[in-house]
Amino acid sequence: MAFKKRVVGVIGLGHVGAHVAFNLGVLGIADEVKLCDVKSEKLVSERQDMMDAVMFMPHRVNYTIASYEELADCDVIVNAIGDITLCASGNRDDEMHFTVPQVADYIPKVMAGGFQGIIINITNPCDVITDLIAKKSGLPKGHVFGTGTGLDSARLVSAISQQTGLDHHSFSAYMMGEHGNSQIVPWSLIKFGGKSLAELEQNPAYVFDKARVQDETIHAGWVTYSGKHCTEYGISMTAATMVRAVLRDERKIMAASAPLDGEYGETGIFCGVPSVIGANGIEEVIEYNLPEQEMKDFKACCATIRANIAKAEEFWK
Ligand SMILES: NC(=O)c1ccc[n+]([C@@H]2O[C@H](COP(=O)([O-])OP(=O)(O)OC[C@H]3O[C@@H](n4cnc5c(N)ncnc54)[C@H](O)[C@@H]3O)[C@@H](O)[C@H]2O)c1
Repeated sequence: MAFKKRVVGVIGLGHVGAHVAFNLGVLGIADEVKLCDVKSEKLVSERQDMMDAVMFMPHRVNYTIASYEELADCDVIVNAIGDITLCASGNRDDEMHFTVPQVADYIPKVMAGGFQGIIINITNPCDVITDLIAKKSGLPKGHVFGTGTGLDSARLVSAISQQTGLDHHSFSAYMMGEHGNSQIVPWSLIKFGGKSLAELEQNPAYVFDKARVQDETIHAGWVTYSGKHCTEYGISMTAATMVRAVLRDERKIMAASAPLDGEYGETGIFCGVPSVIGANGIEEVIEYNLPEQEMKDFKACCATIRANIAKAEEFWK
């Protein structure tokens, strides 16, 4: 009897892609991981290094090298190409002139191979590239999505956890909007074991500095980048968790760059919002009744993304 293998492709084996591929093995998520990059020597070395680690992984994983077309049988592809040196300015949009033409060129090649699975995008500017992949692939709505504010939400949870002393898993908090400098903290959504932030703050032991938490969250990426010239652990765990949610049809709620189709009064953009992730990718965008100011700030993020999508079109249309 043959069991179906869980096959995941990773395009772009830089700092981020290599960690995603490694985590897919270490966390027992994939049976085969197909590695794809323009640097053929790097691919051979990464594959060798990962195969050397399989002995210590929870189950057998086969790491293979694949062309764009050979990713056809993947259940999920994680897109992680880029040139991280272009982000040194502190603005993820500065990578657009490189990433947009690359992605516009190879997504049709991936599709020409017959790929029919789910694509999760990491490449920056994340919401813009996710929109581009959706357009170029023609895959059904929800089958293309981005890590979006998934990583930023993990950073928010970490910042609150450090200030309140509460465990990361004991409360829920999400960043929304752009995976970029205009992202927002919707304080109204935070729940501590069912209690709202206002209720929690009635206990002085849990009062924390919101401005500092917001600042630490938005600038966390730059703290990481400044000393090592990349970010890799947080983003690769975010993406691997999303891959698992798809492969195991978990219907897990995470913030992700999701297609908005009327939710929050927005249409035609990808934006970071809490979403249900399952076998069909983004299965539902969760719509909250945000207070007036949070809604205004969120709409401003959507305007920024919309303008960047228009700017990106100059590089591929
Ligand atoms: N969304 C997020 O939260 C998040 C977090 C961290 C990094 N990123 C982004 O992820 C991307 C990768 O970051 P990194 O640090 O790994 O970059 P990196 O420069 O270390 O590696 C990029 C890799 O992509 C490969 N590549 C470039 N063009 C390619 C193509 N056409 N086909 C196949 N491979 C190609 C390169 O050869 C290189 O190995 C960047 O866009 C970065 O900004 C996003």
